[in-house]
Amino acid sequence: MQDVTDLAFMRVIAAYGAPDFFFTEFLRVHAQSKPEKHIVRSIVENATGRPVFAQLIGEDLGHLQRTVDDLLKLPVAGIDLNLGCPAPKVYKKNVGGGLLRDPERVAAILATLRAAVPGLFTVKMRIGFEDTANFNRLLDLINEHRVDLLSVHGRTVKEMYRGEVHYDFIAHAVTRVRCPVLANGNIVSAARAASVLGTTGAAGVMIGRHAIRNPWIFRQCREQFQGLPVTKLTLGDVREYVARLYHETRDVDFPEKAHVNKMKKYLNFVGQSVDPRGEFLYAMRRTTTEAELFAVCDRHLLDRAGDEFVPEPYPGVVARPNCEDTPGPNGCSLETITA
Ligand SMILES: Cc1cc2nc3c(=O)[nH]c(=O)nc-3n(C[C@H](O)[C@H](O)[C@H](O)COP(=O)(O)O)c2cc1C
Repeated sequence: MQDVTDLAFMRVIAAYGAPDFFFTEFLRVHAQSKPEKHIVRSIVENATGRPVFAQLIGEDLGHLQRTVDDLLKLPVAGIDLNLGCPAPKVYKKNVGGGLLRDPERVAAILATLRAAVPGLFTVKMRIGFEDTANFNRLLDLINEHRVDLLSVHGRTVKEMYRGEVHYDFIAHAVTRVRCPVLANGNIVSAARAASVLGTTGAAGVMIGRHAIRNPWIFRQCREQFQGLPVTKLTLGDVREYVARLYHETRDVDFPEKAHVNKMKKYLNFVGQSVDPRGEFLYAMRRTTTEAELFAVCDRHLLDRAGDEFVPEPYPGVVARPNCEDTPGPNGCSLETITA
């Protein structure tokens, strides 16, 4: 995740139970691009013991090839292509989710990357741009170009992060492509991971925001899948997580206020499971110094250290009001995809 999955965050996650593998934030590919230094660090200095895939976002064939050549000199597990980013400033450049409007361009990109990557070549996509008419065509391209793993976020680009995830489309992808599929979108807990695996037949799950909220989620998934009791967490555990996150993401060149603001980006997700009225979020968002931030954490986490950190977000407690508040149109039906 952009501005999230850096070396420090990966280290924090690994302390609580790492996923089987990581994907980097997307590396932007264009005429002037060079792999961003901090993303390269997350590959080269990765000490989590788990492989890391380098994710690219771009559409120029020559520059994609050049970037892959650079990245293959690093210890990457494979190369991943982003066909899902819904940010308008991204998709307007016809990259990320914007490419889902143009299957022929996707075909050319997949052909180039497949030829350039001798090892694992993977794709992350949404189910369409505005609608799902191209979904089958895109899935057939995944087969044609021998993609090794497909992650599907079961929403269109226009749905952003709103509304339900269309797991029926992920189930459909599982039946149509030959490679393993990872189900992505609102995997909020180990119990949800198990139920989504059951209903979609996916080979695994990809977890984004809910790993920021709950870094124990990968460990809990393993417990759930093995039929073991799933670790329960307390607000005291979360207070410890916040302190670790603050310590690990601290950069000596970073002013205190900027660091506090960076912490708010993570805590926006954490706060979804702290209290049902969003009181922690309200107070946390108003802090500007380390002392204020930790005073709020002490009041809401340490003073209630024995209370449960609930596995799923409280209903209506929203992490990013601009992206995730109201349900969007939920008009995706499998009948709308072209054969
Ligand atoms: C802050 C943020 C940054 C993200 N950056 C990326 C990215 O760089 N590449 C990518 O494939 N997806 C990115 N995503 C999308 C997530 O990988 C994931 O597909 C989406 O959040 C839905 O899954 P979730 O419900 O598990 O979060 C990002 C999401 C968030 C919230």
